[in-house]
Amino acid sequence: MAEQDIIIHPEEDIVDPWTVKSSSDKGVDYNKLIEKFGSMKIDEELIKRMERVTGKPVHHFIRRGIFFSHREMHHILDLYEKKQPFYLYTGRGPSSDAMHLGHLVPFICTRWLQETFDVPLVIQLTDDEKFLWKDLTAEETHKLAYENAKDIIACGFDLDKTFIFSDFDYVGGCTDFYKNICRIQKLVTFNQVKGIFGFDDSTCIGKVGFPAIQAAPSFSSSFPLIFGGHTKVPCLIPCAIDQDPYFRMTRDVAPRLQFLKPALLHSVFFPALQGAQSKMSSSEPTSSIFLTDSQKDIKDKINKYAYSGGQATVEEHKEKGGDCEVDVSYQYLRFFMDDDAKLEQLRKDYTSGELLTGHLKKELITVLQKLVGEHQERKAKITDADVKKFMTPRKLNYKY
Ligand code: TYM
Repeated sequence: MAEQDIIIHPEEDIVDPWTVKSSSDKGVDYNKLIEKFGSMKIDEELIKRMERVTGKPVHHFIRRGIFFSHREMHHILDLYEKKQPFYLYTGRGPSSDAMHLGHLVPFICTRWLQETFDVPLVIQLTDDEKFLWKDLTAEETHKLAYENAKDIIACGFDLDKTFIFSDFDYVGGCTDFYKNICRIQKLVTFNQVKGIFGFDDSTCIGKVGFPAIQAAPSFSSSFPLIFGGHTKVPCLIPCAIDQDPYFRMTRDVAPRLQFLKPALLHSVFFPALQGAQSKMSSSEPTSSIFLTDSQKDIKDKINKYAYSGGQATVEEHKEKGGDCEVDVSYQYLRFFMDDDAKLEQLRKDYTSGELLTGHLKKELITVLQKLVGEHQERKAKITDADVKKFMTPRKLNYKY
């Protein structure tokens, strides 16, 4: 079976770019997903190798299994060992001005990868995608792309090595990018995108053609200026696993175009406040903590909505203990509490029943108020002129 031919059975978890749903309160079964998607687990051996070749500990997202799956990461490490170049590619669909905590996950990891491997990065803002899928005008999504760029820049990317682009700006303006889109579109049939993305006869033709636009940045020939004309620079894509269908399709067409298949690092989903059956999503405002939320919003949302793995009464909780696997506060702390020892202590004490849900929530509120507060401070300092610099096509500072 080819990478892109995935058959989804109705009783299974649903994971695609538009839907993430699981019937289990523990959330998506990621091991099953690895089997179904045909990717590889990020195992101890890969983690040790990453630490060996880079000479530093991996980011806690990788150490804690938040980035859990990959395609061809060993190949990227081979290149790095041989001092051969590669670049990073990730993206964001600007559907609202308020990005949420889940959106930070791939960007934080990408920033760490850029810093660790010292490589260039392209970030695609798919304002065209959100125009096609959402009830928004092209002018609105184009504007949102610029607003979201500020949140992305606030994650700390290196201006000398980062190009952020809106599809509306760049696709039309770059002949080579559009040629690659057409080359990809020529090789993918309607039958294939129906199978990969669930499109049907009533899907508008814009959506049918869009996957080629998300695929094209995986090939360095789409960026003649950025990569100084180097057309065969290998690509590594960090993203949550919902985006994998696009890249299964990309990897399928690449050899037929004499292009290189992109490598991938996949993360799990940052869960909704209500629990791990669904991911945090902007279209469900009560499921999400937004990067625009005030300190009070954060406190109120966690106290009101964060699903508890605790028992019904204090007595019962002290006797039976809490369940960290389903407790949203603990799960969020796994993403954003850096201190391994403290996290482990909280896990033990909550599981034994010594700590109550209220205590976990308090810890989480402190961590998230700091994270979001500091993000807002960094974002407030980013001017329109800074955004313009990141979004101007230019050769990135890197030796190929
Ligand atoms: P978008 O805007 O839906 O999401 C942006 C990035 O965030 C990831 N993500 C999450 N990660 C963890 N937990 C969550 N709850 C969560 N929700 C979203 C997404 O996987 C993504 O990495 N079509 C894309 C934009 C895009 C892109 C790309 C993404 C264009 N090219 C290349 C990744 C890589 C989109 O709408 O992403």
